[in-house]
Amino acid sequence: MNKENFSFVGKSLDRVDAEIKAEGRALYGDDLDFPGMLYAAAVRSPRPRIRIKSIDDSAARKVEGYAGLVSYKDVRGINKWPVVLNDYPFLPQDEARFHGETVALVAASSRRAAKKAASLVKINFEELPFIEDPLKALEKDSVKIYGKDNVISSFIIKKGDAEKAFKDCDIVIEKEFRTNYQVHAYLETQTATAVPESGGEMTVYSSTQCPFYVLDAVAAACGLPNNKVKIIQSVTGGGFGGKEDVPALVAAHAALCALKFKRPVRLAYDRKEDFMSMSKRHPSWSRVKYGADKNGRIKACKVKYVLDAGAYSTLSPIVLWRGTVHAAGPYNIENIEIETYAAATNKVPCGAYRGFGQPQICFAQESLIDDLAEKLAMDPIDLRMKNMLKTGDRTATGQKIDDSCGLKELAEIVRKKSGWDKSKVQTNGDKRRALGFSCVYYGVGLGAKGRYLDRAGAFVNIYRDGSVQVNVGNTEMGQGALTVLSQIAAETLNAPMKNIKLSEVDTSKVPDSGPTVASRTTLMSGNAIIEACLPLRENIFSCAASMLKAGKNQIKAFGGFFYFGKRKVSFEEAVKECWAQRLKMSEQGWYVAPKTTFDIKDGQGDAYVIYSYSADIADVEVDIKTGEKTVHKIYAAYDVGRLINPKLAYAQAHGGILQGMGWAIMENLVIKDGIMRNPNFTDYVLPISTDVPEYDISFVEKLYKHGPYKAKGMGEVPLIGVAAAIRNAVKKACGVSLTEAPMLAEKTLKAVKEKK
Ligand code: MTE
Ligand code: MOS
Repeated sequence: MNKENFSFVGKSLDRVDAEIKAEGRALYGDDLDFPGMLYAAAVRSPRPRIRIKSIDDSAARKVEGYAGLVSYKDVRGINKWPVVLNDYPFLPQDEARFHGETVALVAASSRRAAKKAASLVKINFEELPFIEDPLKALEKDSVKIYGKDNVISSFIIKKGDAEKAFKDCDIVIEKEFRTNYQVHAYLETQTATAVPESGGEMTVYSSTQCPFYVLDAVAAACGLPNNKVKIIQSVTGGGFGGKEDVPALVAAHAALCALKFKRPVRLAYDRKEDFMSMSKRHPSWSRVKYGADKNGRIKACKVKYVLDAGAYSTLSPIVLWRGTVHAAGPYNIENIEIETYAAATNKVPCGAYRGFGQPQICFAQESLIDDLAEKLAMDPIDLRMKNMLKTGDRTATGQKIDDSCGLKELAEIVRKKSGWDKSKVQTNGDKRRALGFSCVYYGVGLGAKGRYLDRAGAFVNIYRDGSVQVNVGNTEMGQGALTVLSQIAAETLNAPMKNIKLSEVDTSKVPDSGPTVASRTTLMSGNAIIEACLPLRENIFSCAASMLKAGKNQIKAFGGFFYFGKRKVSFEEAVKECWAQRLKMSEQGWYVAPKTTFDIKDGQGDAYVIYSYSADIADVEVDIKTGEKTVHKIYAAYDVGRLINPKLAYAQAHGGILQGMGWAIMENLVIKDGIMRNPNFTDYVLPISTDVPEYDISFVEKLYKHGPYKAKGMGEVPLIGVAAAIRNAVKKACGVSLTEAPMLAEKTLKAVKEKK
């Protein structure tokens, strides 16, 4: 199939959910209403680490409309939230491990009454020693809060002999880097509504990326089999990774209340408690070392990478693993030694955030490569070009890069478009303006560490009138999945777009399709839809051909019509004929990702099924009197395989870049003495419309043979390299080699002053 012949794939079609969202008709979690519904509110730990002695709700009982308290005693199943390592209790029995952890819940007839009651519940506790700093957590004599050594998870990659190779290098460079939290700042806070059904079943409406994680958690907490629990995804107002694991906890809490009070129960977080208790991008510390010969050939790389996981493991093992695999950067290096840790601290548990453990280490590694170029007196892009992954090369895990690799072209595109080769530092009073570069590779999907989840189902049902219902297990959270997947279904069936209906996930209507993360939706659900559609297509095309009195291979299919000579029949007519002939008009699809491997001993194997790529150039101005930065423009180029919907791909680029920029220079969550100091949008500063840089976006479509219409994955890659590109531009502009993100104005100013 080549691009010109597609009817729907590769076209910038409007979003299928644009109208209901723009007109305010979409029903988000807090818009749903059920008769007799109660509202729940969380009672939270007031300190970073406490031993719970008792919980007293006698004052709360006086609140009008108070229904009661729910504690660990009300958990009907197992009091362990099933995530990866299952160490997080749904509700703690004797110890709460971070400030803001839900210790108990109350329910009442109104939201206000519930909040009031929660504030009156008294936790009697004894304070315990706590840990705030992840590096201290790893020290021998630290307080132990997790296992024997506070290590939640740890990985290594060992290829060749890095120590030996460093000795033979002409230049060796080593630095430490730090990055801070990032808050997802989705518009819709965490929300779930649990509705007990008459036969003892439980239905939960959840604002989530991962309905099947919610299913597992609600079933575990309620002690119900999976077939008695149904999770329906309410229209979700943004996720960015923040609605990957935690909605399961929120939903389980709502369900426990619903079980106890036998009424529907809504649990919706306010912004402050969402900040305090929901997952974040992990803060990180890393030490990176590169060694090269005098011609700029990189011979060795060594990385130690530590993530601040917070009080429970949640998704940290998987986030750490992605960071581990990508820690050496998109380069062909023979000698590699990577050692990574997720350390437990008494702070909010961190989890998934667009890029999933990769942006932090990319910031470090892409900054250091730039400093290496400086030491070698080489152009930073030339140095990278010399070492960059290309077809046939091997990654840090020894995986051979296949032919879907456009990285070099991407670098050339941004280099040309930005005028890099002729660009110089521009001086204007106190302002210094320059360009900075970074490049990224990104393993699409869950990869070897999550391979048992890398499968997806789809159910396609064609009604007699030619309208089509498609059920998938991956979610829309703003990124455009409903539209992209509709295009894939329409293309495969040759059905008009308007005939396709895809909606939010209902776990009772589709098999467990894994989480909607790791930019895997287009690839996994897209392929599952194609699997389901192919036999249907066969029937429809056969009927169309016989109606046209032609052979199946003689007809042309385009835009919902079938043609032979001057004759034409519509998709609907062909479907009607299929039904008349009693042909099967519904199918299940099941897609399993190609094999991936990872040997835990040395970290070698085919870590991911395929990689997407990006190159960024940031055009940044620094005021050397204040340290303030203006990001004027980002030139970015991506290889994400075929673009199913170019307009949506551009939108993903814009959003990802802006989030990357916010994390790089503005967003600064402060936790001091175990207490979060700025849990709100006034004091946690995010980029707003006036901060938006100019975007210059390009795509190189290196087709992936196993992708749906040869697509790879797009959702996360635009964020990952932005911080390093900005940092490298700042270095070029005013000569300071920053090693910490966010690169706040005051810190940059200090660095500029110290340099003088
Ligand atoms: N774009 C919007 N508008 N809203 C989101 O929540 N999440 C991001 C990215 N883009 C997100 C988004 C994250 S973290 C991921 S993993 C991918 O979308 C998931 O979508 P995909 O699998 O369809 O690429
Ligand atoms: Mo995205 S962080 O993988 O939800």
